[in-house]
Amino acid sequence: MIILKRFYFRPIFYHYRTNTTTTTTTKTKLNTFNIEYDPIKQSIIYPQELNLNNKNYSTDSWTNVNENILSRIGLNLHQQKNHPLYHLTNRLRKYFYQFYDQKKSSPKFSIIDNLSPIVTTEQNFDSICIPINHVSRTKSMNYYINQNTLLRAHTSAHQVDLIRSGLNAFLCIGDVYRRDDIDPTHYPVFHQCEGVQLFTKEELFIGNKNVLGDKDNLEIFGPNEQRDATKQEGHTLEAVKLVEASLKKTITDLFKTLLPNTSILNSRWVDTTFPFTHPSWEYEIEIDGKWYELLGCGIMEHRVLENSGLNKDHIGWAFGLGLERIAMIMYGIPDIRLFWTNDSGFLSQFVFDDSTHSIQYKPISIYPQCINDLSMWMGKTKIDPSDFYDLVRAIGGDLIEQVILIDEFYNPKNQRYSQTYRIIYRSMDRTLTKNEINMIHKDIEYHCKQQFGVEIR
Ligand code: DAH
Repeated sequence: MIILKRFYFRPIFYHYRTNTTTTTTTKTKLNTFNIEYDPIKQSIIYPQELNLNNKNYSTDSWTNVNENILSRIGLNLHQQKNHPLYHLTNRLRKYFYQFYDQKKSSPKFSIIDNLSPIVTTEQNFDSICIPINHVSRTKSMNYYINQNTLLRAHTSAHQVDLIRSGLNAFLCIGDVYRRDDIDPTHYPVFHQCEGVQLFTKEELFIGNKNVLGDKDNLEIFGPNEQRDATKQEGHTLEAVKLVEASLKKTITDLFKTLLPNTSILNSRWVDTTFPFTHPSWEYEIEIDGKWYELLGCGIMEHRVLENSGLNKDHIGWAFGLGLERIAMIMYGIPDIRLFWTNDSGFLSQFVFDDSTHSIQYKPISIYPQCINDLSMWMGKTKIDPSDFYDLVRAIGGDLIEQVILIDEFYNPKNQRYSQTYRIIYRSMDRTLTKNEINMIHKDIEYHCKQQFGVEIR
């Protein structure tokens, strides 16, 4: 029986977000991509070509991307300094860089995190043996640019290209796109990390001599090996078991460092099926009585290695994990949409240099922020920002969400420093009125003059 991945069967047709109403009769231009909405036909009209990443792609009857989705390309949250996904990416990098290749005198794993999410159907499906009729190829599950081009649905789309380029151990990190439910844990764009490690016969058996003793006729491939629940046709059981052990140790140790509490939480390996691995597993952890799937993995289908130009001299493992899911558990972030927010109440909680720093996210208020700047002239010595922060907190109390020094300069003519602070006000339990904020702001200005002898600009 083929078990379809949960991921691959949520055929939810949700409507395109349009900024027009159906009562208008003119076609409305929606965006910079020249996609139009025809309210009479209630359909989207695409231009003949879409220009994405400075390249033109012709559109056709498969095109189903929309402005909202296209506008995510290139945002690369995992590369934005201090974003929670940036910290998680750094932690993955740190963990995988500890494995060292003595022969090459370099880290074993290469880390690739900047590949374009625009891929071919060949890369996303065919190269990794996803059958031609597989449900994961449908229009209702993917964002197609045209019949042959789509926004990658998983980072597995790059396995074959990266192996072909000569890598035998790598992580590939990036944004992936799926038409899916929208709920607190699902979002049509999210981030994945793919991991692959290949082994030659020497690496596999010599590296495990302590387990294997002096058996010296071990092989990865045997002439009469059949496919069964434990292995693929051609693979020997001893090779598969060693690769499985390497994979499972790599993953369990990874989660011991990412989520130190998991060593006391329950975790389990669940047998599953993927088109690109056999045997395959999911790794799950239990939190408050609920099991969370953290990743899928397995022994790479040998046909994927063949597609990458390798002969019968390698075997490998692969895994794919979702970054948001892990960051949500790691930091206690309750809603996946928060990863896309520009709200400084969220982002400021992740401003720290050491990505291994462990924090728990504190919910931000549902009420709107109100931003007021305060600029002032001071003398030859400038105010220590932490003194200013203390003063603001003393006056504004819990209504102050954040204070940032946004500008500072010295004017040599009159020998004075200038500083501008941005004060972000927000209440946890109500919408603040402009008047109320102005009064607090004036009070802060007054006390600043008193305490620091500054001139408000
Ligand atoms: N590509 C799978 C997905 O997105 C995840 C995955 C499973 C990746 C198993 C792998 C793997 O490399 O071996 O659902």
